[in-house]
Amino acid sequence: MERRDFLKSLGVGAAAIALESLPGASLMDAANNPLLIDDSAEKPLPKNTEKLAFGLPDQEAVVSRPVTAIVIGAGSRGSVYAAYSAQYNRALRIVGVADPNPIRRQQMAQAYGIAPEHQFSDWSEVFRLSPFADAVIIATPDNLHYQPCMRALAAGYDVLLEKPIAQTAKECTDILRQARKYGRIVGVCHVLRYAPYFRALKRVIDEGRVGKILSVQHLEPVRFHHMAHSYVRGNWHSAKDTTPIIIAKACHDLDIVRWLLDKPCKKVSAFGSLDFFTRANEPQGATDRCFDCAAEKQCPFSALKIYEREHKYLYVFDALPKERAAKDAKIREYLRTTDYGRCVFRCKNDQCDHYVCNLEFEDHVTASLQVEALTSYGGRKTRIMGSKADIVGDMQTFTLTDFLTGRKYIWDEDISKLPGYEGHAGGDWGIVKDFVLAVANHDEKYLSSTIDVSVESHVMGFRAEEARLRNKIVKL
Ligand SMILES: NC(=O)c1ccc[n+]([C@@H]2O[C@H](COP(=O)([O-])OP(=O)(O)OC[C@H]3O[C@@H](n4cnc5c(N)ncnc54)[C@H](O)[C@@H]3O)[C@@H](O)[C@H]2O)c1
Repeated sequence: MERRDFLKSLGVGAAAIALESLPGASLMDAANNPLLIDDSAEKPLPKNTEKLAFGLPDQEAVVSRPVTAIVIGAGSRGSVYAAYSAQYNRALRIVGVADPNPIRRQQMAQAYGIAPEHQFSDWSEVFRLSPFADAVIIATPDNLHYQPCMRALAAGYDVLLEKPIAQTAKECTDILRQARKYGRIVGVCHVLRYAPYFRALKRVIDEGRVGKILSVQHLEPVRFHHMAHSYVRGNWHSAKDTTPIIIAKACHDLDIVRWLLDKPCKKVSAFGSLDFFTRANEPQGATDRCFDCAAEKQCPFSALKIYEREHKYLYVFDALPKERAAKDAKIREYLRTTDYGRCVFRCKNDQCDHYVCNLEFEDHVTASLQVEALTSYGGRKTRIMGSKADIVGDMQTFTLTDFLTGRKYIWDEDISKLPGYEGHAGGDWGIVKDFVLAVANHDEKYLSSTIDVSVESHVMGFRAEEARLRNKIVKL
């Protein structure tokens, strides 16, 4: 019997099962149209396994009047937070924008109907006016967080502040003091805390299902192309001008580990260096830009491959035409004129491309954190070792295994049902929701990443970098 006839002789459900076992098979009806397979039915769980059905949150903040906010820095992050207001207009309104880039400024002004007198080309201009909103959203480059935040707090605004809080531990604590002095709320964009996955992880730990945690192993796989884009060619290539990668990338991870353990960190050691994205590793025939390089086609980091052929990270390029040929021409122009077209082995980068950090918390609880450039996959991988159970998770799903019963508890909610789920697994809009609630109710308790707890995990990062550079264990 022909394979197609064989499949036809089965019912669709059965054929679907058969299909899985036939390499290269595709399921067609008699007219050779693809058959729709209903795979929505829940697959039976393996024996002794249970789902953690916590459900997904409602992302809308229910408030008596919309909170108003000014976006300072209308780039990638500023736009993501502002977009919450397009979806939930009764919760948040964007009433001002500051950005020196006229395209971004105008796009935001247009999208949210911002009055001309509330459009600014520099953050400082916002504070020449009397306060005209409840809050500011600070999403400027890393070296422009401290000053706008200090000014905003003094002017009486609550602040949603992008990470890193600031570039030094002292600046971070200055912001904490300023918030206390003026009685204002600062929500730090440790967005992972607001993602359903990490909330569920925190919940099972707080419910005592894991028992006493002894140790955590956490990996942040950056992905080779993301590393090339952000930390070799892009905005965060210089630790000095921004922050070291252990803060710039992994302040989220330090924060998550600190949050899950709910204990202060006592000691830190760290190793790591920039070893791969250097001149010593350039292929034969390399040139300053990928356009002219003899090895371009064999290079996984090629700018032409990442931006032109795969269309990754195009949000950094303003005003790209919609039509394909015009768009590609514009991308090529950007690759000729910006650092995004440079050879990754000939950039001005200094960020470590592999970084290992060991942390000791109160009660001898230990944690290790790795930040790795050279991975094909992303998604934080976390293993938690407790007295009653362990957890293995990859940011999409986690499994808790109870030592006594052998029973497995799986969290694997389909977050694609959550509005705004694309942004940090739902965390981007999750934080905006809680920030809106905190501002509307004048109560920072709605936020889990307040400035106090966020300063603590940032200090862990600054101390880790000190430990790495001085080759010693640093006490906190
Ligand atoms: N929470 C997260 O997960 C996360 C993720 C990525 C980036 N970030 C952080 O968010 C911040 C912004 O990153 P991004 O990717 O949006 O960068 P971006 O370059 O896309 O946006 C920054 C914007 O700030 C504007 N700007 C520069 N100088 C300014 C000034 N003087 N006044 C007002 N605006 C000014 C720029 O023109 C730009 O549009 C950075 O600190 C970054 O580290 C956080």
